[in-house]
Amino acid sequence: MTLLQVQDLEVRFYTKDGEVQAVNGISYSLDEGETLGIVGESGCGKSVSTMAMVRLLPEPPAKITGGHVIFEGKDILYLKPSERHQVRGGKIALIFQDPMTSLNPVMTIGDQIGEAVQVNLGLNKEQARQRVIEVLTQVGIPKAEERLGDYPHQFSGGMRQRVMIAMAISCRPKLLIADEPTTSLDVTIQAQIVELVRRLQRELNMAVIWITHDLGVVARIAQRINVMYAGYIIETGPIKRIFKRPSHPYTVGLLGSVPRMDLGTDRELYYVEGAPPDMIRLPEGCPFHPRCQYRTERCLQERPVLAEVEPEHQSACWNVEALLAGRADQPTGKGRA
Ligand SMILES: Nc1ncnc2c1ncn2[C@@H]1O[C@H](COP(=O)(O)OP(=O)(O)OP(=O)(O)O)[C@@H](O)[C@H]1O
Ligand SMILES: [Mg+2]
Repeated sequence: MTLLQVQDLEVRFYTKDGEVQAVNGISYSLDEGETLGIVGESGCGKSVSTMAMVRLLPEPPAKITGGHVIFEGKDILYLKPSERHQVRGGKIALIFQDPMTSLNPVMTIGDQIGEAVQVNLGLNKEQARQRVIEVLTQVGIPKAEERLGDYPHQFSGGMRQRVMIAMAISCRPKLLIADEPTTSLDVTIQAQIVELVRRLQRELNMAVIWITHDLGVVARIAQRINVMYAGYIIETGPIKRIFKRPSHPYTVGLLGSVPRMDLGTDRELYYVEGAPPDMIRLPEGCPFHPRCQYRTERCLQERPVLAEVEPEHQSACWNVEALLAGRADQPTGKGRA
């Protein structure tokens, strides 16, 4: 069953320097219980594209200039402000790198999670208390009952992350959006949080969108990935296929920095050289062409659209064939690094 359909979503920021083309018409869908990874360099639109769905961007300067976000059959982009709380924090929950973005520092965790479940699940005070204990236990907070009166700062970094996750799942969301939730944590705790979300996802049959620039993390958690560049999805498909057969020069570059799942191929890897584009003045044609060693004349003029490379796997590159054959034989290309 399809849970979410993002159609041609476009987001701009109107700033004094000009119009930031943050998200440029992206489309994808997500099934119930499925996990999608969104990867790409800093500034490519990962956060903005998901925050826009739940109308969490400051508008202005942000403006959603096009598209639809169909969630459980309804376009949630254009809900009345009074209807939005049923979606955000209810059926769609978000977790961030900094737990204090979601937690109120001056409210005990018993009160803040309790309040959320009373509003969203219609529970009375005692039922809410039980529900809070239940979710804190579920995320692995020891002696949950004794911690209801504690404030967020009384928890260690990793535990605070768990509290934030408890808050997020407390209203039984159908979709959890995790925006780099483990970036600031040390590796051991990071692995624990990833495992926790995986377990909760299975237990609750919750769909997850996991945003990260860490392809190692995404390989552990996601079934599919969207690779974003300059506000576009430039490659999408099942994670195993993308690791095995990356079909966009940018993805090949990203994969150069992670351990490969498919040792045994003899394709050469290289790193993504050069800087990400200026989002106010995106290049003509393919947004990746200034950094691409496979570029041809066509790439300077025509923007490639997503096209099938193999079933379920799409890439937006005019020169997929040369790429897959391992030939950077185009005269306008840069040398191999
Ligand atoms: N409030 C804002 N005003 C102007 N531009 C913004 C604002 N917020 C984001 N942007 C721009 O929108 C683009 C997309 O940003 P976004 O935060 O989605 O990137 P990201 O992929 O999440 O990066 P990171 O990995 O660093 O979190 C960037 O070019 C960014 O500079
Ligand atoms: Mg971000």
